[in-house]
Amino acid sequence: MAQVILIENNKTLNDLISVNLTTFLGVDLIQRKNAQETLSLLAILPNVDLIITTNFIEDEPTADLLTHYIKSNNLETGLIVLGTDQLVKNDFTINIANPKDWEQVIHGAAKILGINENVLLKKATPDFIAVPVRYFLNLDNVNCDVFIRIKKSPTEYQFIKRIHNGDTFSKESIKRYLVQGLEHFHIAKENYKNFAIFLSNKLVEKIDAPEMEPTLRIQLMGESFEIAIREISKLGFNSEMIQLTESIIQNMVKNFEKSPEMSNLLHKVINSETGLLFQRCHMTSIVASEMIKNLNITEPQAFEKIAYASFFHDIMLAEHEELSKINSFDELEKANLNEEQWDMVFNHAMEASVLIRKYPEAPTGTDEIIKHHHGTTNGKGFSNSIEKLPLLSKIFIIAHHFVLELVNFKKRGGEPKSLTEELYKRYPSPETALIIKSLEHTLKKKTK
Ligand SMILES: [Fe+2]
Ligand SMILES: [Fe+2]
Repeated sequence: MAQVILIENNKTLNDLISVNLTTFLGVDLIQRKNAQETLSLLAILPNVDLIITTNFIEDEPTADLLTHYIKSNNLETGLIVLGTDQLVKNDFTINIANPKDWEQVIHGAAKILGINENVLLKKATPDFIAVPVRYFLNLDNVNCDVFIRIKKSPTEYQFIKRIHNGDTFSKESIKRYLVQGLEHFHIAKENYKNFAIFLSNKLVEKIDAPEMEPTLRIQLMGESFEIAIREISKLGFNSEMIQLTESIIQNMVKNFEKSPEMSNLLHKVINSETGLLFQRCHMTSIVASEMIKNLNITEPQAFEKIAYASFFHDIMLAEHEELSKINSFDELEKANLNEEQWDMVFNHAMEASVLIRKYPEAPTGTDEIIKHHHGTTNGKGFSNSIEKLPLLSKIFIIAHHFVLELVNFKKRGGEPKSLTEELYKRYPSPETALIIKSLEHTLKKKTK
C-alpha cells in the first residue's frame, strides 16, 4: 500500500483530499502539520511515496523545505504542491493551483504513485448508498460529496455530483429537489458511516434545543428515529447513535409528561410529517404510559422501560415498515413472504431483545417487554394467550395493538367503530380487560 503524507491545515480541504485519496487510491494516509514535523518523520520513514502539501503553512515555506530535503537526500518521494501555479523546476513535483479541484489532486497522485488510470476509473465509480433527500433538510453543510443518480440506459446509471464535500447549502435548495420528486441522494459507500455520524451530531444539537415548537420537535424526532434505527440495525451501537437515541427517548418521555391530554398528543404524532414506524413507536409509548398512570403502577422506571421498548421493539424490521404491521400468525401466513422475510418477522421480537441487552442505557427488564411484544414468552411467533406474562409486557402488547388499530383506522377511514372492541375479543382475560378499561377511561374523558 502506498504511503502518502498530507499537510493541509484547512480542515475542509484536508477532509476533502483525505476522503478521496483513501476512497479512490486506497493509500495509507499520514497526517502532518508542517514541514518540520514531516522532516522528522522522513528521517525514520524515508520510503514515503508521496507528500501532498500546501505551498506555505503560516510563515513556513513548506513546499520549498520539502523540495530541498527530497533533492538533497535523493529520495524517491513525489510531491504535490497545492495553491501555486509556479513553474516546476524538478521532475518529482506537480503543482496544482486550485486545491479544491480534488479530481486533479487524485489524478496527480495516481500518476506519481504509478496507479493505472483504468484502475482509477474502476475505483472512481464506487458503490453508492441511497440517502433520503429529507435527511438534508436538517443540515446546512455536509462532510462528503453528494450525488444524484440519473438513468443512462435501461441498465445503466450515472452518478452526478450535486453537493461538494464542505459546501454549504440552503433548506430551500433541498426543498426544490423534493418538489421535483427526487427521493434519494447518493453517497459513496466508504463515506456513509462518517456521514451518519455527522448527521446524528447535528440532529442531537437540534432536538435538544430548549425552545422549539412541539410539532417541529416531533418531526425532528421522527427523522432522527429513522436514522437511528436504520444505523443501529446495520452497524450496531456507536457513541453517536447512542447519543441520538437517548435524545429521542428522553424527548418521548418528556412529551408525555408535558402533555395533559393523551389524545392531543396522539393527534399531533399521527398527523406529523413522520414515518409510520416512528408514529407507532411514539404512540405506543404514549398509550402504554397513560395505562401505567391510570392503573397507578409504581414499578420503578416503568415509563422509561416502555419508552425504550417502544423505540427498539421492531428494530429488526427497520427497513421493512410494512412487515411491522403483521400482528398474528394468521396474518404472517397470509402475507406471502419468502422464507427469509418470514423468518425475519417470526424472530424479530427475540432478536431485538438480544440486541437491546447490548445497549448500555436501557433499564433492566426492557429486553423482556420487547421479547414479549407479540405475546410469546420466547419472542418467536405470535400468541394471544398473554395471561402469564408480566404486567408491563401485557400493557405494552395492548398499547401496541391499540395503536395498530388506530393507524389502520386512520388509513381506512369509514365508521369509527370502537377501537377497543378488537382488543377485548383478542385478549379476553379479566386482567387484560382492566388494562383496556384503563385506556378507555382516558378516551371517554376526551369525548365527554
Ligand atoms: Fe410493532
Ligand atoms: Fe413487532
